[in-house]
Amino acid sequence: SERIVIAIDGPSGSGKSSTAKGVARALGLAYLDTGAMYRAVTCAYLDAGVDPSDQAGVIRETLAADLQISTDPDLEQVVVNGVEVTTRIREPEVSAKVSAVSTVAECRANLVARQRAIIEGAANGIVAEGRDITTVVAPDADVRLLLTADPEIRMARRKAELGDKVDASQLADQVLRRDADDSTLVNFTTAADGVTHLDCTYLNLDETIAAVLDLVASVR
Ligand code: C5P
Repeated sequence: SERIVIAIDGPSGSGKSSTAKGVARALGLAYLDTGAMYRAVTCAYLDAGVDPSDQAGVIRETLAADLQISTDPDLEQVVVNGVEVTTRIREPEVSAKVSAVSTVAECRANLVARQRAIIEGAANGIVAEGRDITTVVAPDADVRLLLTADPEIRMARRKAELGDKVDASQLADQVLRRDADDSTLVNFTTAADGVTHLDCTYLNLDETIAAVLDLVASVR
């Protein structure tokens, strides 16, 4: 079968990572979590002792970061500057400080270039997910999807994912505050031209994956 690129965008907690991984597994494709790259660079600048308010420092550390990310949907692994940060990137401190990377144009341009190289290098094709994949990173993808869900559902899913160690205010920070911050970067609540909008508020994971596979079949 021919090479295929599937781009999925959506807000935090929409289920886009689980969906993208499931689709990649079903079709034998690579998987790219672009959010993990923004998070990994956040670890790098924090480790370098750079303050989030030091924009020049954040840019410098982003451009210098040696970033390795697994594109195997069954192997989550992120290494930055030789340090494995796979679990650390999910910690609240990183979520709270990632916008110092994602709101700076120079940082975005650098990560977008790396993401395009990874996508181009995927021989069988890839499912890439984030906030700007359908619009900036891979606007010519074969399938472009905006995955959304109501905020209450997204908070509930994040809570199920993170367990009892997060309280209500951390949960709101993980979902609602980042919605607000990220919406200044890219519009991920309404689908751009040619992008299919899938609201999965009332779909479980399997149903969501099936809907995406149907969409893929329709363009193949
Ligand atoms: O997807 P995830 O929630 O892990 O992304 C973490 C953060 O990285 C987002 O809150 C956003 O600030 C940033 N991001 C981005 N563009 C992407 C993916 C993530 O700005 N394509």
